[in-house]
Amino acid sequence: MSLSDLALPLVKKLPAEAAHSATIKGLKLGIGLPNIAPDSWGTEVTLPRARLRLANPIGLAAGFDKNAEVHRPMSRFGFGFLECGTVTPKPQPGNPKPRVFRLEEDQGVINRLGFNNYGLGYFVRRLRRTPPGSNCPVGANVGANKTSDDFIADYEAGIAAVYPVCSYITINISSPNTPGLRGLQGKTALQDLLTRCEIAVKSAAGHSTAKPVFLKLAPDLSDTELSDIVQTVRGAGAWLSGLIISNTTLDRPADLSSVNKTESGGLSGAPLMHKSTKVLRDVAGELFGEFDLIGCGGIASGADAYAKIRAGAHAVQLYSALIYHGPGLVAKINAELAALLKADGFSSVVEAVGADLPSRA
Ligand SMILES: Cc1cc2nc3c(=O)[nH]c(=O)nc-3n(C[C@H](O)[C@H](O)[C@H](O)COP(=O)(O)O)c2cc1C
Repeated sequence: MSLSDLALPLVKKLPAEAAHSATIKGLKLGIGLPNIAPDSWGTEVTLPRARLRLANPIGLAAGFDKNAEVHRPMSRFGFGFLECGTVTPKPQPGNPKPRVFRLEEDQGVINRLGFNNYGLGYFVRRLRRTPPGSNCPVGANVGANKTSDDFIADYEAGIAAVYPVCSYITINISSPNTPGLRGLQGKTALQDLLTRCEIAVKSAAGHSTAKPVFLKLAPDLSDTELSDIVQTVRGAGAWLSGLIISNTTLDRPADLSSVNKTESGGLSGAPLMHKSTKVLRDVAGELFGEFDLIGCGGIASGADAYAKIRAGAHAVQLYSALIYHGPGLVAKINAELAALLKADGFSSVVEAVGADLPSRA
């Protein structure tokens, strides 16, 4: 057990955002960190379209390390990959506090942070100073400033700036806490976004092979909206590797019991598991084999990760469960996943990807 896990009971006594700040400070000090090799479980996987090799499929979701300050210490907990950000071109404070709430009884979290971050300049300097380790790719999740009058220009600026310092890029158009941002998931806006981002990616890549790019979606999409997204994404060229499904939800399931359930913002953690996996499975039903899918939302166990893999994800990400269980959870999830794969007779992760899809039965 690492010092971070031992400190968890103390950190949990703090309000949610103060607990997060204390955790980031502790990680920056780097005391008592474990050093778990990400290839400890024999669960390596390559995302085929992205050509991204991961030592294991368990990643850290965006939002934990918004300013790319602790990816090195976090890589020591056994993650297969990490995602920093969301970073916006200019620094911005985000919404007034309090803005992060634990839903302890439901193992959920509600946040309305609103992309609080130090901006692209700081983010890029951090990643340049401590580049991703070769065995743990680091993605850069880019977003738009709240006051921007051209959201897409912010993504273009983000891509140009982070491109040289990251392993992959995520275009985040699914935060519910920046008014108007989710509108970029609409057909015409998405087409415009993809066209302009393609130019930005190709210009950043120059003559070299372009780095992988993912689009991160919300789970709150109607069937029509989802089918428009699928059609638009299908029209994108090879530069777009895949989709991350999903961000937080604005839904409030009827069975939530925590007092904080009435707070506004995006809900994540256990109450999001079912919904985000359903959207993943629906999209995989259309795009499996064409685009790489990364499953995110509500993962707290090897069984949860396995369910997303069977629904069509080559890799998964988590954040909220770390708030309740600490980063020691990553090794546990990896070990459980390896055991589940073995029990079902799969000799690799890739054999299990999409196993629940009718097209693979
Ligand atoms: C406190 C908090 C902050 C987040 N910030 C971001 C963010 O900046 N960018 C982003 O793409 N997702 C952000 N997310 C969403 C997560 O990356 C993830 O998509 C979502 O929480 C579902 O995964 P989980 O249930 O494992 O937490 C945030 C989530 C939480 C709980």
